[in-house]
Amino acid sequence: MEVFEAIHNRHSQGKVKQDEVPRALIGKLLDAAVQAPNHYKVRPWRFVVLTGNARDRLGDVMAASQRDRKPDLPSEVFDKTRTLPLRAPVLIAVGVDKPSEEKVLEIENICAVAAACQNILLAAEALGLGAKWRTGEWARDEKVKEFLGFEKDQHILAFLYIGYPEFTAAHEPRPSFEDRTIWME
Ligand SMILES: Cc1cc2nc3c(=O)[nH]c(=O)nc-3n(C[C@H](O)[C@H](O)[C@H](O)COP(=O)(O)O)c2cc1C
Repeated sequence: MEVFEAIHNRHSQGKVKQDEVPRALIGKLLDAAVQAPNHYKVRPWRFVVLTGNARDRLGDVMAASQRDRKPDLPSEVFDKTRTLPLRAPVLIAVGVDKPSEEKVLEIENICAVAAACQNILLAAEALGLGAKWRTGEWARDEKVKEFLGFEKDQHILAFLYIGYPEFTAAHEPRPSFEDRTIWME
C-alpha cells in the first residue's frame, strides 16, 4: 500500500473481530514502530504485547485498582472495567523510557514513541488490520504500570487495540491543514 493511501485511509477502528492475529504480523507492526526517528538513538520505546489470558489479567488489575480508588462504585462498573482489554485480540501497551543522560529530554523521548505508535497504526492499515489508540485513566494507573513492568514515573503513551476490522466504516474526510498553517517566506 502506498504511504499516502495508508495515511488517508487510517481511522480509529474500535470494533474488531476476536480472530487471532498471527505473531508474525504483530512482529511486522513492531518492526514498523522501531523505524521511527529518535533523538540520540536512545530507542525510548517499550512495548508490552498482550494477547489471550494476559488481557484478562490486565482487566483484573484495572478493576482492582479502580475498586481501591473508588470503592463506592457499583460492582457492575468493575465488571465492565474488567472486560475493557478484551475489546481486541491484541493489545500493545506502549511506554516511554525516562532519559538516562542529561542531554536526552523526556519530551523528545515522548515524541519518538508517539511517532512509533503512528507507525504501528499505519502499518496496521497497510496490513488490513484495524487499530485504535486509547489511553484513559489506565495509562496513568500505578497498578497497571506495575503489572506491565513500568516504573511509576514512566509514561504509558498508548494502549493500541488491534484486530481484524469487523466492517469497513465510511469515514468523513478530515479538516484541511489550512487553518492550522501559516506560510513564512
Ligand atoms: C494520545 C491519544 C490518546 C487517545 N485516547 C483515546 C481514548 O482513551 N479513547 C478513545 O476512544 N480514543 C482515544 N484516542 C483516539 C482519538 O479519539 C481518535 O484518534 C480521534 O477521534 C480521531 O479519529 P481517527 O483516529 O479515526 O482519525 C486517542 C488518540 C491519541 C492520539
